[in-house]
Amino acid sequence: MTLNPARSPAATDAAVLQAQGLCWQVKGKPIVNDVSLSVAPGEFVGIIGPNGSGKTSLISLLAGLLKPTAGSVILQKKALHHYSRRHLAQRMALVEQQAETSERLTARQAVSLGRTPWLSLLTPWSEKDDAIVQSMLEKVDLQPLQHRCWHTFSGGEKQRLHIARALAQQPQLLLMDEPTNHLDIQHQISLLSLVKREKLTVVAALHDLNHAAMFCDRIIVMKAGRTEMQGPPDAVFTRENLRAWFDIDAIVEREPDGAGCFIRYQRPDEP
Ligand SMILES: Nc1ncnc2c1ncn2[C@@H]1O[C@H](COP(=O)(O)OP(=O)(O)OP(=O)(O)O)[C@@H](O)[C@H]1O
Ligand SMILES: [Mg+2]
Repeated sequence: MTLNPARSPAATDAAVLQAQGLCWQVKGKPIVNDVSLSVAPGEFVGIIGPNGSGKTSLISLLAGLLKPTAGSVILQKKALHHYSRRHLAQRMALVEQQAETSERLTARQAVSLGRTPWLSLLTPWSEKDDAIVQSMLEKVDLQPLQHRCWHTFSGGEKQRLHIARALAQQPQLLLMDEPTNHLDIQHQISLLSLVKREKLTVVAALHDLNHAAMFCDRIIVMKAGRTEMQGPPDAVFTRENLRAWFDIDAIVEREPDGAGCFIRYQRPDEP
């Protein structure tokens, strides 16, 4: 059910990322269906929606990991497919939902991989790269574990490592797919705060609606591959919308000064 037109803000020259009429099908089945969006510099956009609604597929299209069956993705005024891998990685970093590697690297080496797009014969590894890696390890609280092999890390530690690697890439645009998966509550909040403080442009698929309300400037709601609605959290999160999209009952409490909202879930048997 579409409660509101899925309006995307007018595409502007200043947009960091734009998608126009993006579609992705598997064996004729539409997984992402006619999605258009535009992300302004410094904006933190959250993608929410039920399981299977197309969030990961959309992020993979935006990251260039999937090729759209129709439509296009424009990064800083240039179509994504015109970028070399290196130039794309200098501008955009991706933190995937389930990122694994079999490589036996220490945590520090894994974060150092984030510097790869910036290295060349003329610009070899330098103290500056070391300082960036050190700073990112400290930011995600992994400095004490930096010499451990990263495959021995817990789920949450691995997730923080992926984020440090993505930040070490020093991208302008950060795409994240459920970045707070596996994290304890302190690290969930500190990670989203960290990303917000870095003043990057961020597009993140999030399951925690209260975190989306706390940190996002704008929310895009996905359902069955389509965008149902886009807007600021306090416009998107209403009791009626949450019922329609997630089939839950929740009271949305609004801050008196209009500074935000908080979602209080109701037990199904509560009146
Ligand atoms: N390669 C594929 N082949 C067939 N179906 C696929 C493929 N990739 C995704 N799908 C289907 O597309 C739908 C959207 O998947 P996607 O992973 O994008 O959802 P999601 O919103 O990220 O879900 P979740 O909240 O569980 O992470 C799902 O029904 C999924 O099974
Ligand atoms: Mg997903």
